[in-house]
Amino acid sequence: MQRWSRSQSSIPAPQPEELRELQLERLQWTLRHAYDHVPFYRKKFDAAGVRPEDCRDLDDLARFPTTTKEDLRANYPYGMFAVPRNQVRRVHASSGTTGQPTVVGYTEGDLSVWAEVMARSLLAAGVRPGDTVHVAYGYGLFTGGLGAHYGAERLGCTVIPASGGMSARQVRLITDLQPEVIMVTPSYLLALADEFERAGIDPRTSSLKVGVFGAEPWTEGMRAEIEERFGLDAVDIYGLSEVIGPGVAQESVETKDGLHVWEDHFYPEVVDPATADVLPHGGHGELLFTSLSKTAMPVIRYATRDLTRLLPGTAYPAFRRIEKISGRTDDMIILRGVNVFPSQIEEIVLTTAGASPHFRIVLTSCDRLDQLTVEVEARAELRTPVARCIADMAKRDIGIRVDVEVVPPGSLERSTGKLRRVVDLREGRVGSA
Ligand code: DLL
Repeated sequence: MQRWSRSQSSIPAPQPEELRELQLERLQWTLRHAYDHVPFYRKKFDAAGVRPEDCRDLDDLARFPTTTKEDLRANYPYGMFAVPRNQVRRVHASSGTTGQPTVVGYTEGDLSVWAEVMARSLLAAGVRPGDTVHVAYGYGLFTGGLGAHYGAERLGCTVIPASGGMSARQVRLITDLQPEVIMVTPSYLLALADEFERAGIDPRTSSLKVGVFGAEPWTEGMRAEIEERFGLDAVDIYGLSEVIGPGVAQESVETKDGLHVWEDHFYPEVVDPATADVLPHGGHGELLFTSLSKTAMPVIRYATRDLTRLLPGTAYPAFRRIEKISGRTDDMIILRGVNVFPSQIEEIVLTTAGASPHFRIVLTSCDRLDQLTVEVEARAELRTPVARCIADMAKRDIGIRVDVEVVPPGSLERSTGKLRRVVDLREGRVGSA
């Protein structure tokens, strides 16, 4: 199983044939392991008329049923585990926006693989052993903090386990302890930029050289804003707790062109979200993952709800890339028949000179007509016609009419972790989308 993990924390470069062979071997093991030890998978495979031994080729995976978040909820808390509880060393849980959380589990071996793929991700991000890494992802049930922590330790870095929140203390720690690297959600980094300025410190003078940002969608416009404000390299990291946590895919600091999937451990597919049919290579759709080496909680064709496409590898040619995540199947807003993603509004806000990057989207309905309002903070120093610019661009680029409310700097709530961009106040909906 650990064929390439011997030389620890290096990025493997298998030949395509060699990778496919390893993937198939691991896939067959995973299907058998899930079928034999998780009644949910046995029932689902039986109902679909497939058996683990029907997988003779990587393409045969498409014959197996997909797994959804609802399946995990229905089997809460331990129903998806494939090993006895005394072999589970840790659990994490995702809060879930609606009620029931989902629980995931790791054996000692799983935790080691996770640290390894995270260490690999950090290497790709330009982090080196000996660097000091400030981790401001939340510690706890969320996989961000501990995932980043053990990966950075595995690589041989010094870790500052700051967790999220207490922004003034974060600024103090960064100023005093001089980390080269920060790992945090991009939205919280922007809140920290404001905090630096409040403390009278130009963020560009900080010690930070690399930022490893993920856990929420962020656009190229946001990258430009962050790189400009901090004078650092901003790279994207992707992952989800059901698959392992952060470290499923990572962008290279050299190319900044999408995220390489560590395919020796996680097998990606892109399907049509409506039909679940596998799309031809390069097609845009919903990302699925099958774990290839996880023991405590294998996942088969897990439907992430994340929208992207698969592209050939560049910096690490052995591994395919996913394009930066453009949105989720469940954060798409249908406004009077037009599909809108929050990331499209983000691109517009970030190209509007007088607008700060702090904004939220409020959905309301009036006489059964949906209304989208962009609430955006103006930049203190600029007074351009922000509202008109944003409304005009939304009309031109997305084809929708939006209202824009310019609010005073600092008035929108800041998130210390994952940001919720959308507040849905339409009749019959609850809370934020
Ligand atoms: O957010 C794991 C993580 C922590 C990733 C720290 C990166 C950094 P969950 O809480 O299970 O796990 O949420 C997973 O977050 O399905 C995506 O919708 C979103 N997401 C994660 N990374 C990115 C990214 C962690 N780089 C869900 N770009 C995923 C866009 C992302 N969305």
